[in-house]
Amino acid sequence: MSEMPSRVIPIDPARPDANALRTAAEVVHAGGLVAFPTETVYGLGANALDVDAVRRIFEAKGRPPVNPLIVHVHGESMLRQVVADWPPTAATLAARFWPGPLTLVLLKGESVADLVTAGGSTIAVRTPGHPIALALIREAGVPLAAPSANRSGEISPTRAEHVLAGLAGRIDLILDGGPTLNGIESTVLDLTTEPPTLLRPGPVGIAELEAILGPIQKQPKAAGRALASPGMMPRHYAPRTPVELIGGRANFDERANVLRSRGENFGEVVLGETDCQERRIGMPANPAGYAACLYDVLHRLDGLGLSRILVELPPATDDWMAVRDRLTRAAAD
Ligand code: TXA
Ligand code: MG
Repeated sequence: MSEMPSRVIPIDPARPDANALRTAAEVVHAGGLVAFPTETVYGLGANALDVDAVRRIFEAKGRPPVNPLIVHVHGESMLRQVVADWPPTAATLAARFWPGPLTLVLLKGESVADLVTAGGSTIAVRTPGHPIALALIREAGVPLAAPSANRSGEISPTRAEHVLAGLAGRIDLILDGGPTLNGIESTVLDLTTEPPTLLRPGPVGIAELEAILGPIQKQPKAAGRALASPGMMPRHYAPRTPVELIGGRANFDERANVLRSRGENFGEVVLGETDCQERRIGMPANPAGYAACLYDVLHRLDGLGLSRILVELPPATDDWMAVRDRLTRAAAD
C-alpha cells in the first residue's frame, strides 16, 4: 500500500475539540483510516458500511481476511443497522455494560459486507466507553469497524505513540487522547450459542457475566469452531522479544539467577513491587492495575533489544483470567 503521512492530532478526552472530531469524521467519510482511543486500547477505525475502507484496515494491519472486525456503534438505530437480531439477553447486557468493554457477537445485518465479518454470519459489536470514541462515532454518523490499531499479531496500542510505531505511513490520522484506561482488549461474548460462549476474557469478568446469564461456556467448542474467534489463536498480542512465564516468586528468582549467571541481558516483570528500573518492572498486584500498564510495559521492554522477558505469572484465579490470557498469548511460540 502507498505511503501516506499519518497526521497526529492531540485531543482532550474531557473536552474533545469539535474541529478535530470534524477532521476525523471527514477522513472516515472519505473512506480513510482513523486511529482513536477507546477505554481498552486504540482502535483503527473505518466506515463499517464502506467495503473499500474496510479493506484498507486489513491492508494497513496486515490482518488475515479470516479474522473478523469489531464494529463500534452508538445508539439504537446504528446498532440496528448492523445486527439482524437483538435478543433480550443482548439488551440486558448492553443496558448493564455499555458504553463499556464488552463486545457481543450476534447475527449480522444484511447491510454489512462479508469482509467485515470474514464471511461469517455473525458480527461483533460494542459501544465503547470513551468520550472521544463516542464523539467520533456520533460525528461520523456511521458504525466504525475498528480492530486494535496495531500490525496483526503484535501488541495492542495503549498510547498514540504505540500506534505510530506500528502503523505510521499506513493510516491517515491518529487522534491522540493519551493513555487508555483498561489497557487490554474488551471481553468478547458470543450470544449466538446456547449457553453464551466467552471468546476472549477481558475487563468485564466472568463473574459479572454469569451473575446475569447463569453459567457460560469458557472455551469455544473445539470441533468445527477453529475460527470461532481468530483472536483466540495461541500466539497473538506478542512482542518480538521472547516472553517466558514463571509461576511463583521463588521459581522466578531462581530462573533469574541462572540467566544472570549466564550473562544474559533479559527483562523482568514482577508482581506487587512499586519499584521500576529500566529492565525490571514492578507491576500492581491487582488485575485492573496490572492490565492498565501491561502493554505499555511490553512495548517498552520490546524496544530494549533484550534476549528475553521473564514474567512472574499472576495467580490462576478468575479475576486474573484476562491478564493471564494475554501473557500466555504473548509467550506462545
Ligand atoms: O477492546 C477492543 O475490543 C478493541 C477496541 C479497539 O474496541 N478492539 C479489538 O479488536 O480488540 P480486534 O480486531 O483486535 O479483536 C477483535 C476480536 C478478535 O479476536 C476477533 O477474532 C473477534 O474479536 N471477533 C470479531 N468478530 C467476530 C465474530 N463475528 N465472531 C467471533 N469473534 C469475532
Ligand atoms: Mg487486535
